Amino acid sequence: MAFSKIELRNFRCFERLTLDLSPQSTLLYGKNGCGKTSILEAIFVATSGRSFRTSNLESLIKEGAEAFVIKAYDDLSGSILEIKKQKTLPINIKINNSKVTASELVRAFPSFSIDSKTFFYNDNAPEYRRKHIDRGLFVASTEYAKDWFGYFRALKQRNSALKLGDISQARAYDEALVLNGEKLNELRFSLVKDTQVVYQELVQSLVAENDRAKIFCEVTAELFPGYDSSIGLQTNLNNAHANDLRRRSTTKGPHKADIIFESKGSLIKDKFSRGEQKLLSIIWSMSQNIMLGRVYNLSPILLLDDLSSELDSEMLECFLPALKYIENRFIFSNIVDLFGSKIDDSNQKLKKFHVEQIT
Ligand SMILES: Nc1ncnc2c1ncn2[C@@H]1O[C@H](COP(=O)(O)OP(=O)(O)O)[C@@H](O)[C@H]1O
Ligand SMILES: [Mg+2]
Repeated sequence: MAFSKIELRNFRCFERLTLDLSPQSTLLYGKNGCGKTSILEAIFVATSGRSFRTSNLESLIKEGAEAFVIKAYDDLSGSILEIKKQKTLPINIKINNSKVTASELVRAFPSFSIDSKTFFYNDNAPEYRRKHIDRGLFVASTEYAKDWFGYFRALKQRNSALKLGDISQARAYDEALVLNGEKLNELRFSLVKDTQVVYQELVQSLVAENDRAKIFCEVTAELFPGYDSSIGLQTNLNNAHANDLRRRSTTKGPHKADIIFESKGSLIKDKFSRGEQKLLSIIWSMSQNIMLGRVYNLSPILLLDDLSSELDSEMLECFLPALKYIENRFIFSNIVDLFGSKIDDSNQKLKKFHVEQIT
């Protein structure tokens, strides 16, 4: 399901706001402090039950108000989503008037946010990149969620036994760890492979319009499983007993996985400029979004705050043709309007909102 319209009540700076969304790209533009990030945050809260910035949802209630309410409508299915957060009470999520959990919400209305952390995806800890893949798989496959919980439950118990120095007790959890862990690895592997296919298609289209996009064609993304998958997880666990006992935790397995981005043998984080890294992260996130639509039949919303920050005008020009290839909803903000001057107005599927005009 995907939203076509969203309404806010008492959310951050907005007392009331109604926004119609394009089935493809929607640009929110306006000067600092006009509420662009707030709108993106409201959409993220409406699709995940949490914020991308703060764990304190109460701080999102407009000053002086008692509660915020976000309503979203899906024209195609006729579904209505309502999220309400009252001071001191937990968040309340309803789809078509029935209460749902945050996990059910995430699956019904998947969304991905490209924020400043995602921009420098390659500079972040591996955990951050793992989470990005896992969030994709969580919405794509219920089987994945089962394997994920099974794996991490067994891992926690195994690590507790290792803390006590008891290797035979630790080994009791190997079976569950191997069973769930290898499935986890396979699903992650196919997500990265499928995303890579879309990524190559997208960057080839960008190169056809702008030579500077060539650097993105040379980028490879490879999943490092966190263990040597050629000999199987069980053998890795067996070989790591001494190390696991010394470290008092499980040192091999999908909980150590990472995705490595390289260009001609060098790590992207060492090679690319900040602007190039940011654009790579955006194109990769877009590719994952398109792939989730094509392979898993989902319509995830992609949110991007402050498109042009850190991008010079050439990098921005390099990116803008990508808007034509969006296959799901893409909602992004920028300080200035990009239409007319930079984006071809003939693309009817693009919508723009001057945020000051609608507050
Ligand atoms: N709980 C709140 N109540 C009222 N105003 C708020 C609240 N939280 C944030 N604001 C204000 O909302 C305004 C919009 O912020 P933001 O969405 O970050 O703007 P932009 O992204 O367009 O620069 C800011 O002036 C901020 O101070
Ligand atoms: Mg902002």
